[in-house]
Amino acid sequence: MVKIAPSLLSADFTNLEKEIIAVTEAGADMLHLDVMDGHFVPNLTFGLPIIKQICEISTLPLDVHLMVTNPAQYFVDLAKMGIRYISFHQETEFHIHRQLQTLKDLGVKAGVALNPATPVASIFPVLTDIDFVLLMSVNPGFGGQKFLPLVFDKIVNLRKQLEKIGHKIELEVDGGVNEENALTLISRGVNILVAGSYIFGSDNYKDRIENLR
Ligand code: DX5
Ligand code: ZN
Repeated sequence: MVKIAPSLLSADFTNLEKEIIAVTEAGADMLHLDVMDGHFVPNLTFGLPIIKQICEISTLPLDVHLMVTNPAQYFVDLAKMGIRYISFHQETEFHIHRQLQTLKDLGVKAGVALNPATPVASIFPVLTDIDFVLLMSVNPGFGGQKFLPLVFDKIVNLRKQLEKIGHKIELEVDGGVNEENALTLISRGVNILVAGSYIFGSDNYKDRIENLR
């Protein structure tokens, strides 16, 4: 079953609670929270105080996508808040294996995110330590960008390797996801679709979520 994860980056921040309730009622399976630091990516979003408040009102599992340098400094606080999924970028971290262990020890789903140009082979040695991989299908930093079809081959390569080693993970794709690419993504084995502008850019969130599913 595919899970739909609306990215709050495209929500109306002046009405965040309303937006969260609306996507929850529209059938979202989890909420995707994009943390950006203006350093790893050329944009700033929100950090721990806002995530904490979102935790207090959300009934859905939260998926925190850390687009920051030194992501590990936030792991403990995020885990304490009850965040279910945490991903950090391969490109930001010298000690991927160690950080995955830290996340697992904290009891959260441990994810690695890869930029479009980062090969999936870069995480092959640590695949058995990973709970989910987030493949970026745009360059991270902004919502509303055009989907990069290069992600399709990466999905295939990653799945081949997973089959070879007999390991199962969750596979998430993030960036430019819409009704035109969702079916191909799902049929290639993606089980979490992140969508920001496609969902929040409509006045019928339920239709958009159902279209993706
Ligand atoms: C981009 C973020 C995405 C973004 C997706 O850096 O990681 O989660 O919100 O937005 P859309 O679906 O509009 O590309
Ligand atoms: Zn994201």
